Amino acid sequence: MTETIRFLMCAPDHYDVDYVINPWMDGNVHKSSRARAVEQWNKLYHILKDNAIVDLVGPQKGWPDMVFTANAGLVLGNNVVISRFYHKERQGEEPYFKEWFAQQGFNVYELPKDLPFEGAGDALLDREGRWLWAGYGFRSELYSHSYLAKWLDIEVLSLRLTDERFYHLDTCFCPLTGGYLLYYPPAFDGYSNRLIEMRVPEEKRIPIEEPDAVNFACNAVNINSIVVMNKVSDYLKVRLADVGFQVIETPLTEFLKAGGAAKCLTLRVTEPVLEDVHANEPVETRTIRLEGHLLDAGIMNRALDLVEEEGGSFKVLNFNLGIEKQSISVADVRIFAPSHQVMEDIMTQLIDLGAIAPPQEICDVNTQVVTQAGVAPDDFYVSTIYPTEVRVNCEWVLVENQRMDGAIVVGETPSGMKAECKILRDLQVGDRVMVGVDGIRTARKMDSREGKKNEEFSFMGSGVSSERRVELLVEQIAWEMRHIRDQGGKVVVTAGPVVIHTGGAAHLSHLIREGYVQALLGGNAIAVHDMEQAIMGTSLGMDMQRGIPVHGGHRHHLKVINTIRRCGSIANAVEQGVLTRGVMYECIKNHVPFALAGSIRDDGPLPDTQMDLIKAQAEYAQLIKGADLILMLSTMLHAIGVGNMTPAGVKLVCVDINPAVVTKLSDRGSIESVGIVTDVGLFLSLLIQQLDKLTSRYQVA
Ligand code: ARG
Repeated sequence: MTETIRFLMCAPDHYDVDYVINPWMDGNVHKSSRARAVEQWNKLYHILKDNAIVDLVGPQKGWPDMVFTANAGLVLGNNVVISRFYHKERQGEEPYFKEWFAQQGFNVYELPKDLPFEGAGDALLDREGRWLWAGYGFRSELYSHSYLAKWLDIEVLSLRLTDERFYHLDTCFCPLTGGYLLYYPPAFDGYSNRLIEMRVPEEKRIPIEEPDAVNFACNAVNINSIVVMNKVSDYLKVRLADVGFQVIETPLTEFLKAGGAAKCLTLRVTEPVLEDVHANEPVETRTIRLEGHLLDAGIMNRALDLVEEEGGSFKVLNFNLGIEKQSISVADVRIFAPSHQVMEDIMTQLIDLGAIAPPQEICDVNTQVVTQAGVAPDDFYVSTIYPTEVRVNCEWVLVENQRMDGAIVVGETPSGMKAECKILRDLQVGDRVMVGVDGIRTARKMDSREGKKNEEFSFMGSGVSSERRVELLVEQIAWEMRHIRDQGGKVVVTAGPVVIHTGGAAHLSHLIREGYVQALLGGNAIAVHDMEQAIMGTSLGMDMQRGIPVHGGHRHHLKVINTIRRCGSIANAVEQGVLTRGVMYECIKNHVPFALAGSIRDDGPLPDTQMDLIKAQAEYAQLIKGADLILMLSTMLHAIGVGNMTPAGVKLVCVDINPAVVTKLSDRGSIESVGIVTDVGLFLSLLIQQLDKLTSRYQVA
């Protein structure tokens, strides 16, 4: 590259920190010295003049940040895309920069109003001219990248900035001659880092550490083998020298107070166009429709927030606000994402919120055929707990066996089209599995005002309770369990051994006896400890009456296991009169089915324990079917396992002394789940009291 290199600068006649629009300016308003700023700027100016031509644009009173000409626009060949500043504090600079470019004979491109893009501060050409790196996340809008690609006819690679100290791409990213890249990886999200690593081979990447990053080492001006920057560690200087770069340090501390350094103070206006590079479509877009109580139920906020959190962006094309309290609002929203992967992540979450692709509805979801048993196609849609419908033969078909983390299999049966959730291992060669996110919708109860208000089981959201609320919640649960029993419904209990240790065995036995429990799920341990208590009076060697360890008691549980093994099964032990009370006894006596899932730590195990986990999962799934309420009592593993198999709409009550377990369950985001952080023995005793109260009340009536 022998053509002359030109830069544009703007003298700091009116420079100051007048306002705060980035974290560096915070605390620095009017704290910079004009004299020192002028001196530092002059030094930089002369260094550049020794190596290139420097043009000047006239400084303007009232626009103190105009010194940062990197933000004037983005130049490629004879074209310039003029900046649209995000903050009104800088928007007044736009006409001056535009005028300068026009006078120099550039083709000037202007973005639509309200589509921020901050020029070469957020868009850096690969120094070999192969593509353009473009930043977004703080100042420039992702969608502006589409215009850059189109107008400048170059491939644009979007990078998402995530650390507000590095709000412009040029504060943490600096392409160098020869395909090298100086950058600060933590300033970018995971996808962006992956993209960088895909494009720049490891031997060309020069990642820097935080101390250099905060000295704006990446905010460097590169002219062939020279790199001009504010300040740099010896380590980095050597690292750069090793690959042939000579560092020139020049202090720019006064400008750091405004959040800029060497690169920000310059704009390279000679950027040659390479012959065979061409535009891509850097931004994926899709339009979705949201319908419901978008404002009242907070759906609109959640939808737009999640788009941004995932690294996308949006434009609300149309918002039809329902006028009456009961009327429905409709919004069409255009979603932008920097890659297909990000778009899919956003779309799946929007679908969970109830979004669908608007009117030109497709007739069939996309599917791919399973070619290896137990393995889904890469792009398969991962199911959620929410009732889901998919488009098949131009109709919405309800997905059967709804559960989390499955694949949706679509197929024809003699009675018509059918869709169902299948877990990976059940997929068979030839199954048609839904891929992508087109033609799917979920129905969420919480989206209706009705559902929100009249929910009889009005647990407050999926919050975790405090002790104060426990009693109130137990009252509601008791009422609900009573109601389910009267209606012939189904309550499933999944319980851990802590239930027995905390003295809950008698209460749980009582619940089973009184017909409040229709199935019991647990592991080997709960059954062992329950029967140890029933047969020997201890639980894991503790005397349950006196609360003290019994001499040699730790052997008791093995004795019990051995006894039951001799009987052949728990049912046999009851029949033979060996087991005469307790939770397992009541299950047998009252014909309440149970499933015991084994684990690595199980002693014995009991003859009833299913040590084949795949079979155990199937037994659980079978017993959960048709449940109205699931009571999860102090068991993290079994509770989470059960949670995954259970569709939304089933009320979940998770009781644990450990808030982490409870939170994990409530994270399903289902309104019907409630977490109660308390001692499980205490909970059960309260529950029995409440149920008994209800019974006497009924009897009086
Ligand atoms: N105070 C200016 C702003 O916040 C600093 C701009 C620095 N320029 C840059 N290309 N990083 O906009």
